[in-house]
Parts: sequence; structure tokens; C-alpha cells
Amino acid sequence: MKYDFDRVIERRGTDSVKYDILQPLYGKEDVLPMWVADMDFAVPDFIQEAIIRRAEHEVYGYTIRPRRYNESIAGWISRRHGWNVDPGNIDFSPGVVPALVLSVLGYTEPGDKILVQSPVYFPFFSSIENHGRKLVNNQLVDDKGVYSMDFDDLEEKFRSGIRMMMFCHPHNPVGRAWSMEELQRLAALAIQYDVLILSDEIHSDLLLFGHRHIPLASLGKEIASRTITCVAPSKTFNLAGLHTSAVIIEDPVLKKKYEKILEDIHIGGGNIFGFVALEAAYTNGDAWLEQLLKYLEGNFTFARDFMENNLPGIRVSPLEATYLAWINFEILGLEDKALMEMMVKDAGLAFVDGPRFGAGGAQYLRMNIATPRTVMETALNQMLQAFQKQFPGKF
Ligand SMILES: Cc1ncc(COP(=O)(O)O)c(C=O)c1O
Repeated sequence: MKYDFDRVIERRGTDSVKYDILQPLYGKEDVLPMWVADMDFAVPDFIQEAIIRRAEHEVYGYTIRPRRYNESIAGWISRRHGWNVDPGNIDFSPGVVPALVLSVLGYTEPGDKILVQSPVYFPFFSSIENHGRKLVNNQLVDDKGVYSMDFDDLEEKFRSGIRMMMFCHPHNPVGRAWSMEELQRLAALAIQYDVLILSDEIHSDLLLFGHRHIPLASLGKEIASRTITCVAPSKTFNLAGLHTSAVIIEDPVLKKKYEKILEDIHIGGGNIFGFVALEAAYTNGDAWLEQLLKYLEGNFTFARDFMENNLPGIRVSPLEATYLAWINFEILGLEDKALMEMMVKDAGLAFVDGPRFGAGGAQYLRMNIATPRTVMETALNQMLQAFQKQFPGKF
């Protein structure tokens, strides 16, 4: 079956975070939203059918997650990434960010140091700082938009007594799929300095252009025993509104702690539609995902070529994973605020501004490319026209 990613679906008026709060967020209703990480594509038929099938039963009472549910997660991870997870080591979370916060609360004490690698998905900051833990930054190295880890700085910081590292793998917003060599170096340091790794692998199914996802915990027993891995079908299959994610913990002590905190806060129940959607996605989703990835590659190539041809000097980072393009606008010589203002007011485009992702984010914008090609085309033309107006003769 061929899926249609070109179809434009009207999402305004559906109480969508992406479309229905543009006025308060951007001061303007009439902008193309290319900000929050949710896709404009229809959910695959087999997921919608599973939800409808469940909805047709008239009782929506408290629901369990049968072993079959965890097996669908383990099966997916084994097929997609070659990591064999024991279904018994899979726990629930109503979202990946909630799992990050639960882990901060469950595994660290107020005042403990938690390391991140900016520029990074900004809820990493709040999930640490809102709970009285100390944020330590190991800033990524930006070589003209190509990113790598600063291992010397990482080791120095680990040596200073880091309790936990919040690892973005693949990395939002810089689009890196970390390589085996990078993961091995990171794992060796975490083991040497006794650091717990919270590996946010929510984007792990969205690997592009021949890149591969290597789950950190799949590297070996020693690193697995200090890793909490977060995964979800929410980005992959566009199910964020169903709030259903999974946490994989191999170490029994860590696992018990996670389960205790989940129980203490009473959020382990989940929702029945999320469960049937996850199971349908992870059981039947391979072919749909392959087509999605091809489409995303096409969108990224289209956007990058458009910018290279029409907006010389604007630099698009290579996209190894995620559907979030990371774009540098330094050449324009604008302050970050003025850049965003121009995008919203003149180009009619809503992006996420780079500085929100912390140190290293200045002069960048993050653009969500998970939208029909015609919408991408419209957005890029609007950008070009705004630039031509603002900088006559330059573009
Ligand atoms: C790295 C990363 N983690 C977590 C999330 C959100 O997770 P959830 O909606 O499951 O809380 C996102 C969403 O963009 C993300 O990019």
C-alpha cells in the first residue's frame, strides 16, 4: 500500500497545540506553524482502525497492559535496531518528558548535578532546574553546523561528580545520530565515573539517509545497567496526543525505583486508546515508517537545495535523524529577536528560536519539515520573499 503524505489536512480548529495557539505564542494567527515536533501527516490506517475498534466497545474502564503489549515494544526495537529487550524490563510513562522528570525525582537528590549537551531540547533544562537539581552543560562542538561531542570537557565534568546525564539520542535539535565510536566513548566515561544515563531515544525511529540508530544500552551489560532508555511511538507515528511512552530499565534496583515513583504519583494507569495505538504501531508500522522516512528525506533535500540555490549563506545542518532541520541565519547579521520577528511578521512562519535550546543556539532556528511538500514549498517561498524585501539585491 502506498501512503499519501502529500495530502494537506486542515488541523485548525482541532484544539491542536501546533495550530490553535499561534496568536498567544507568536502574536499572529496567520502563520505557517513549523515549530513544535508534531507531524501534519495522517496517522496510518491500521492505527486509526485499532482505535476505532476499541472505541466501539461501549465500556472504557481501567485497563491493564498485557504482556503482549510489552512484547510489541520489544519486537519493534529488536526488528528496527537489533536490540533484544526483555519485555519484563519495560515500564510505562505517560510521555517521555514525564519519564525524564520521574527519573530526576527517583534517581537524584536536590543539589545533585545533572549534565546535558546544549543546544538541546529545552524541557531538559526545566526538568532538572524545576526540581532543584544543578544543571551542568557539556556544550556540543559546532563546526559550521556539523556537531560533535567535546569529550575532554565531558570527562572533566564527569570527574567533578555528575550524578546523571540527560542524553538526547538522536539529538534534537542538531539532528545527529550518534555513531558507535561516540557511543562507546560516552559509555566508557559513564562507567568510569559512575554516571547514570537517561537516554532519550524518542527520535530513534526517524533515522535518515542510511544512518542507523544504536541504542546506548545495547552496547553491553555494564552500560545497560546504568541506562534508563525512553522510547515512544509518539514522534514516529504522530501520536503525541495519546500520551503513551515506554521506559526500558535493565537494572532491577533502578527498575524498582522507577516503578515506586510511578506508583507514588499514581500515573501508571495510562489510557486505553494509547495502548491499542502503540500496539498497532509497533506490530504493523514498518512499511508505513519506511515510506515516511523516504518522504522526510525528500522534504529535507528539497528544503536544503532551495536554501542553497536561493538563500546563499544560510546554512542547513546535515540531518541524520529527526524531522527537525537546524538552520543557521548568521549571514543576515540580525539579532535573534529581530530574526524571529522577521520570520513571523514578514515571512509568516513560526519556528522555534535557537536560543531556547540553550548555549550554542544563537543565530539558529529549528524548522519542522514533517509537512506536505507543497506546504514546505509555500513556506520557503514566503521566506525568500521576506528576505528579498528586507535585503534588496542580496537574495
Ligand atoms: C528529545 C525529545 N524528548 C521528548 C519529547 C517529548 O516527549 P513527550 O511528548 O512524550 O513528553 C520531544 C518532543 O519533541 C523530544 O524532541
